[in-house]
Amino acid sequence: MTAPGSVKAAFRNLRLDLDDDVAVVTIDVPDKPVNTLNAGVVAEFTELFAFLESESAVRAAVLISGKADNFIAGADIEQFLELKNAREAEALSRAGQQLLSRLETLRVPVVAAINGACLGGGLEASLACSYRIASDSPKTALAVPEVQLGLIPGAGGTQRLPRQVGLTAALDMILTGKNIRAKKALTLGLVDEMVHPSILRDLAVRRARELADGTRPRSHGHSGSGIAARALEGTGAGRSIVFRQARQQTLAKTKGNYPAPLAAIDAIETGYSKGMEAGFAEEARLFGELSQTEVSRQLIFLFFATTALKKDSGVSDPNAKATPVDKIGVLGAGFMGAGIATVAVQAGTIVRLKDADTARVAAGLRSIRENVKERLTKKQITRTQFDDQLILVNGTTDYSGFANADIVIEAVFEDIAVKHQVIRETEKNTGEQSIFASNTSTIPIARLAQASARPDRVIGMHFFSPVPKMPLLEVIVHPATSNDVTATVVAYGKKLGKTVIVVNDGPGFFANRILTPYINEAGKLLDEGAKIEAIDKALVQFGFPVGPITLVDEVGIDVAGKAGNIIADAFGERMRPSTSLQHVLSAGRYGRKNKKGFYRYDEKGKKDGVDETVYDLIPNAAARRDYDADEIRERTVMAMLNEAARALEDGIIRSPRDGDIGAVFGIGFPPFRGGPFRYMDTLGVSEVVRRLEELNARFPGRYEPAPILVRMAKAHESFYPAEGKPVA
Ligand code: NAI
Repeated sequence: MTAPGSVKAAFRNLRLDLDDDVAVVTIDVPDKPVNTLNAGVVAEFTELFAFLESESAVRAAVLISGKADNFIAGADIEQFLELKNAREAEALSRAGQQLLSRLETLRVPVVAAINGACLGGGLEASLACSYRIASDSPKTALAVPEVQLGLIPGAGGTQRLPRQVGLTAALDMILTGKNIRAKKALTLGLVDEMVHPSILRDLAVRRARELADGTRPRSHGHSGSGIAARALEGTGAGRSIVFRQARQQTLAKTKGNYPAPLAAIDAIETGYSKGMEAGFAEEARLFGELSQTEVSRQLIFLFFATTALKKDSGVSDPNAKATPVDKIGVLGAGFMGAGIATVAVQAGTIVRLKDADTARVAAGLRSIRENVKERLTKKQITRTQFDDQLILVNGTTDYSGFANADIVIEAVFEDIAVKHQVIRETEKNTGEQSIFASNTSTIPIARLAQASARPDRVIGMHFFSPVPKMPLLEVIVHPATSNDVTATVVAYGKKLGKTVIVVNDGPGFFANRILTPYINEAGKLLDEGAKIEAIDKALVQFGFPVGPITLVDEVGIDVAGKAGNIIADAFGERMRPSTSLQHVLSAGRYGRKNKKGFYRYDEKGKKDGVDETVYDLIPNAAARRDYDADEIRERTVMAMLNEAARALEDGIIRSPRDGDIGAVFGIGFPPFRGGPFRYMDTLGVSEVVRRLEELNARFPGRYEPAPILVRMAKAHESFYPAEGKPVA
């Protein structure tokens, strides 16, 4: 046998070791944190397969990763942006399919030894192997996240996955892109065995040998997901019911705004009705088509923007030093305080939670327990992890235990006097180095810092509710905040699993500032005679997760009213609140929290239809009429876009990228539109100005185009460069 040396020498990304008659192939893309299937890796696999085919002394192979917690993260997404047309993309998909078909039909059996993330093309590759073993590490996660980029699995995933785990489970994975942990993967039949990472390699070698010996059969999976599901999937008629339901549910969820999930269903169905070869062809064709859609381009932009933010320290000063955060104090055990404490213990931080009396502290601790339990119930954490997390938090009614807190985050009442008082108290009870962070939604941080003896250590950490679910954290710096403090808080925000943008101080910061004119305009449409459900429906159709009136009910009509007034005071006429919202609030309706809002709520707080009695409280009660959905969208969305441009011009956000991330992850701006700035680029800035001027003529003072837009329109500029990689 020729030594593998000749092949080995040429490889940069793969390493080939012989364990007697088993070839152990280690993938380790140099100088990258994760393995991706870039062109170089693909070329080396082709060569490797030829070697495995020709070396008769090699009887089996193992595919394993050299990275600590990553198997294969999928295709190299940057290469997607270079695809010039659908034909090129289809060819790329075809090449991937052929490579994996070759892997599947190799002379020797191949065992995939999976530790860490196994995503997209990585999972598709493992499906083409003869046997799969996953480590039980919490880092091990299997998924086909392509739909999140507006694409579908393009290397055979739409064909092999349903055959491996059954149609229902495969649809669930492909249509959501969600992560499957090792234990669940084992139950689904997605992997054949689960072991401790320390014995993964050895076991894989042993299994490879058994497969070669014929003492262990190659895995054909297909355990299906539950007897009922399997029975339904077993027949053509049953499957057509499953496909019909999947299409209906997808349309209900996407409102037709996202083409990829429907395309995935088509590709899977083709495979069932016309066979796998036809399925592969359809998968590649659809992958090609989707790669050229605006939706996919915007979703890929968001992916790159989020990745770029992960590497962003939040300050331009390269010498700024982030200090590790091991212990925090949380002031206020209410809704937000409990949420913040939850994400902190989940990240392994020790938390001291303070409120005014023991009853409130106890309620806060209960709610943290409930939050953490949700992950246990969903099997995302083990019982031991659950216990370990809860043990990190304890409560207090005084400042005992605050002395060595690295950060104290306050989430007390939105009242400047109360906040000033807690700053003074905190500073008396903490060390010089402790950082004071406020979760205020509206009070400028510089005003809060007036009560501080160490204003350089005061900063804003604006979380969004519900904290455990919402991905954004707005970090707000005021002129005196030190760079080290900012860097520390940004790094800690990332540790909490948040996407962090750093914004400058100003009323409403960024997210609430652009939300305000949008909510106001929805209210003014109500003032004039539009119907509640028509307003919400128009904006859900546009792509927001909920409409603006529902949103106000959710966050609290009192909270929205108060924030609206503060922002109106700061900006004047264009931010003037609607009459409807004020009247409804004066009538004691706070929304979901007191089960009385624009909508009806049942005993358990479940939302029902519009509460028609609310119309008696607002102007023109009897004059409800139908409004065109376009009119509703135009007025609300243009107000938001214009304000986003103003916030950029005022230096509140550092870049259009941060604004787009803030809007998408903080307030649910439709991801497939990329964010307000990407959307303005799509429309064309001159077109935005034209439409704002038209609206301003109808509603003087409300839509005066931001000067930056007028300037950009004249110079034919866009917020992002027109071509190439979308994010710096
Ligand atoms: P909440 O009313 O649920 O909780 C406030 C808690 O602070 C109460 O338990 C209260 O007893 C406690 N508290 C008051 N004074 C205190 C003191 N001196 N020491 C310790 N605890 C004290 O209010 P929520 O909704 O949690 O809001 C808290 C802060 O978070 C506010 O500044 C609010 O503007 C901000 N915020 C709220 C959001 C929301 O959606 N509710 C979103 C983002 C920020």
